[in-house]
Amino acid sequence: MSELLKIAIVGAGGFGKETLVMINQINAIKVQWQVIGFYDDAHTEGTLVGGSKVLGRVDLLNEVQEPLAVVLAVGNPQVKRKLLERLKNSKLYFPPLIHPAATIGENVKAGAGCIITAGCRLTVDITLNDFVLLNLNTTIGHDVTIGSYTSVMPGVHLSGYVQVGEEVLIGTGASVLQNVSIANRAIVGAGAVVNRSVEEGRTVAGVPARPIKKND
Ligand SMILES: CC(C)(COP(=O)(O)OP(=O)(O)OC[C@H]1O[C@@H](n2cnc3c(N)ncnc32)[C@H](O)[C@@H]1OP(=O)(O)O)[C@@H](O)C(=O)NCCC(=O)NCCS
Repeated sequence: MSELLKIAIVGAGGFGKETLVMINQINAIKVQWQVIGFYDDAHTEGTLVGGSKVLGRVDLLNEVQEPLAVVLAVGNPQVKRKLLERLKNSKLYFPPLIHPAATIGENVKAGAGCIITAGCRLTVDITLNDFVLLNLNTTIGHDVTIGSYTSVMPGVHLSGYVQVGEEVLIGTGASVLQNVSIANRAIVGAGAVVNRSVEEGRTVAGVPARPIKKND
């Protein structure tokens, strides 16, 4: 058996715990990862989360001397980016993680740190830039591009030719119709049906989705 690769989870909250389960499920198909524990500024060192220990604050990862895989188990796109900016250690690397129960079609590219969870289905000619999260049961149609740090919550449907910018949050159960673009740092409310392109920084919600506020 080849040597296991060590992996740390940043974020010991609910999604961190789900990410631990996902890694266990990947290992159940083919053992490859050894989870060393969680790093989180807001959790007490030594606390057990889903059976794995909180090892300390995130900045401790900058002291690691051996190669270590890291997964950013955080849903908020801006928090994800800020966490990454704090990690300056060249020993750290960020593999994409794909659940064995995700269906990946043809010419699908997933950048560093992407997380594709159980039940997601991606068809063809799809690009996920770095640190994109696709949460449970999301479907992505043909010719879709998603920008870095964007998080797509459970049960979202993105139709063909949809373009999503960086640091976008798409809420649970939203549907985005074909050819629509969602610009950087926009937020799509849970359950929205997005039939028009969304401007940078806008929050839209409802059916059909319309702006509800201008973000900070
Ligand atoms: C859209 C969203 C970001 C807005 O949050 P917010 O900025 O805190 O806004 P508020 O809750 O103050 O709501 C502002 C208005 O929009 C309405 N609204 C909020 N979310 C809505 C939604 N998803 N659909 C329709 N209307 C919504 C509110 O009822 C409120 O209307 P009012 O002014 O008439 O009372 C949030 O409600 C949302 O949907 N987030 C997604 C959460 C998610 O998917 N989580 C996944 C976890 S895995």
